[in-house]
Amino acid sequence: MAALDRHGRIERNVTLLFVLSLIVVSIGGIVQITPLFYLENTIEKVEGMRPYTPLELTGRNIYVREGCYVCHSQMIRPFRDEVERYGHYSLAAESMYDHPFQWGSKRTGPDLARVGGRYSDEWHVQHMINPQEVVPESIMPSYAFLASTPLKADDMAAHLRANQIVGVPYTGEMIENAVADLRAQADPDSDDTDGLEERYSSVNIRNFDGNPGTVTEMDALVAYLQMLGTLVDFDTFKAEQSGR
Ligand code: HEC
Repeated sequence: MAALDRHGRIERNVTLLFVLSLIVVSIGGIVQITPLFYLENTIEKVEGMRPYTPLELTGRNIYVREGCYVCHSQMIRPFRDEVERYGHYSLAAESMYDHPFQWGSKRTGPDLARVGGRYSDEWHVQHMINPQEVVPESIMPSYAFLASTPLKADDMAAHLRANQIVGVPYTGEMIENAVADLRAQADPDSDDTDGLEERYSSVNIRNFDGNPGTVTEMDALVAYLQMLGTLVDFDTFKAEQSGR
């Protein structure tokens, strides 16, 4: 056939094959890449998302420091078995303020993307101190020292500022009040809770570790775990049906 003959010519000439392949691949690349330059944002905006409070952010730093991501993922994939076990699949927007993200790639323990509100604070504290006491077959190590380690928080403003530089919308006011907001969130009797609630929507204000007086690393970690996956209200959330 004539068409195949002509194709034979391309296949026998390496230079011609290379040049034509390059053209074909470039067209594919342009079609995929160009639209991205015209999109303002590739992450769908979702109601409810806000930056971490200072206490949650320190809790998150402890999570990273202790390597919890080595055994836990924070990413529910859109498969039926995962959604039935862990809840609504994760949205891109839900990790938009994570630097670095904590999606993880290993599940020795369960996914934690929506663990917030699933257990009581006391459960978490007991579980962190002695996992086998709450889940006898658990192989999770103990993190009891968190409960007796006072939280170092004087450099909190710098942490918020660093996140602001990489795009998290912390305001000047949030940075200025970072230390006060951190202490207020772990102390329901504090006078500063109004300001905290004004700056951060749906924030849990509790004495997370059950030990009044000192703000410990346990307070921060539990505050972080208790808000994971809770910001977006999935009763009202509707995915944008763009281009379908
Ligand atoms: C060696 C692996 C390992 C490490 C490291 C680890 N975990 Fe776990 N984790 C597990 C396993 C296994 C389970 C399931 C059994 C249980 O509940 O203890 C679990 C369960 C949990 C649960 C309960 C989840 C649920 O839905 O029931 C939470 C919360 C948790 N881990 C938090 C953490 C935090 C926070 C850290 C870091 C400070 C951490 N884990 C470090 C293995 C690990």
